[in-house]
Amino acid sequence: MRMDIFTLFPEVFSPVLGSSIIGKARRRGFLQICCHQLRDFSPDRRGRVDDTVFGGGKGMLLSAEPFARGLDALEEHLGAMPKVIYLSPRGKVLSQQMARELAALPGLALLCGHYEGVDQRVLDEYGAQEVSIGDYVLTGGELPAMILADTVSRMLPGVLSSEACFTEESHYAGLLEYPQYTRPEVWRGRAVPPVLLSGHHGNISAWRRAESLAITKKNRPDLLVYTAKKETQSVE
Ligand code: ADE
Repeated sequence: MRMDIFTLFPEVFSPVLGSSIIGKARRRGFLQICCHQLRDFSPDRRGRVDDTVFGGGKGMLLSAEPFARGLDALEEHLGAMPKVIYLSPRGKVLSQQMARELAALPGLALLCGHYEGVDQRVLDEYGAQEVSIGDYVLTGGELPAMILADTVSRMLPGVLSSEACFTEESHYAGLLEYPQYTRPEVWRGRAVPPVLLSGHHGNISAWRRAESLAITKKNRPDLLVYTAKKETQSVE
């Protein structure tokens, strides 16, 4: 997969998306991430990319043209326009299911907003999907773009060492993950649950399922309603 990120701050991405698992995946060629300075696509000689808001209102808005020029250049370079995503608190909230669907695409173009946002017309022109990372507002789209890029990247074949790495974890099957333990068997007087040392795979699976249900009920009861609904639907 290839991701192209349009931003006023391309330098903030490399420490995060160039390190650890994602950095390694990029170096091994499983994933390509290219960050573009939005100002490079400004029609203005001084690289201006924003303007005041029509109808009045505080702050400045990012203009349509720099994003449009960047996307057009990308389409020309790739021979096709990738799916365009605008990171925004107004969007549909990112979920594991959405990440799985995005990971199946050949490419994504991520647009990072700043200030009061972006001229609506560029989103309409390119059919951009708006994606939020949660019900709170950040100062810009860079952190949300990194979160989306990380979440999608780790689902690509070859990026994690084994598929079990994400098929067992929180949110994959609609439940939160059960607690896990490593050595020593007793730490500061706290023992590992004996069932995990029993070697009985059936009992271990049953214990993990019960723990997953209990932690989901405690922290995210909304997920249980959703999982129950899905299970009823698949029986019907
Ligand atoms: N930009 C500012 N806040 C955001 C959020 N919650 N999600 C995505 N992009 C944003």
